[in-house]
Amino acid sequence: MFTDKIELKDFEKMDPEYKDLLGRVLTIQSDCEIGGPHLYVEQMLPVAPTKIDQLIVARTAAEEVDHFRKVARVAGDIGVDVSFVLSMPNQKRYVEAFRGLITTWEDFAVFGFLIDRVGRYQMEEFHDCSYLPLERILPDIVTEELGHIEYGHNKTAELIAKGDQNKEKIQRALDFWYVTALDMFGHSHSPRSERFRYWGLKRRSNEQARQDYMNEVAPLIQALGLNVPDPLKGRKYL
Ligand SMILES: [Fe+2]
Ligand SMILES: [Fe+2]
Repeated sequence: MFTDKIELKDFEKMDPEYKDLLGRVLTIQSDCEIGGPHLYVEQMLPVAPTKIDQLIVARTAAEEVDHFRKVARVAGDIGVDVSFVLSMPNQKRYVEAFRGLITTWEDFAVFGFLIDRVGRYQMEEFHDCSYLPLERILPDIVTEELGHIEYGHNKTAELIAKGDQNKEKIQRALDFWYVTALDMFGHSHSPRSERFRYWGLKRRSNEQARQDYMNEVAPLIQALGLNVPDPLKGRKYL
């Protein structure tokens, strides 16, 4: 296990595998950050039901753009230009969750509740990581993700409280995003994931992170009066 802490000035002398993995994870992270706004701004912003909802959609998008900017700077400093992800079509996104388009408030709410939470998990993998410039951008990003998650959670509860048909719609959205969320953690037996851990660039195995996530969301889903979907149904990455 690699236990050193690396600054930008040390990066050049690092093992090629380390350079490759760090560049890779920063590219994917920057893609996920900008992927959110590309999913929901177009359809959700102009038809927000209240001024507050509209402000929150805009602010959430602005925060994701800022997360992109922060991750892109860390990547740029090691010579990895991630600006191409800004104009990448949704269908080409690295992570499947960002390949569609969000067109309903049920989806927007559950997306915050479940997918921003995966975003938080992804960032928390870098706690105490070997690359210090990456660790330094974490606290602000995680704080903002907590806000996105809370809004999603509250909005989900609010929509459910409006009546039974809404609850069914929310359950359908949850069924979709839950499976999508679990797939975001990747294959359980990923050799690359083990290399990330070896180099101190991730804390947990994919399976461990996914299990922690499932343990965290199950009681929240149940408290909303919803059913926890079958964790294996429709999964693509097991
Ligand atoms: Fe983010
Ligand atoms: Fe977010």
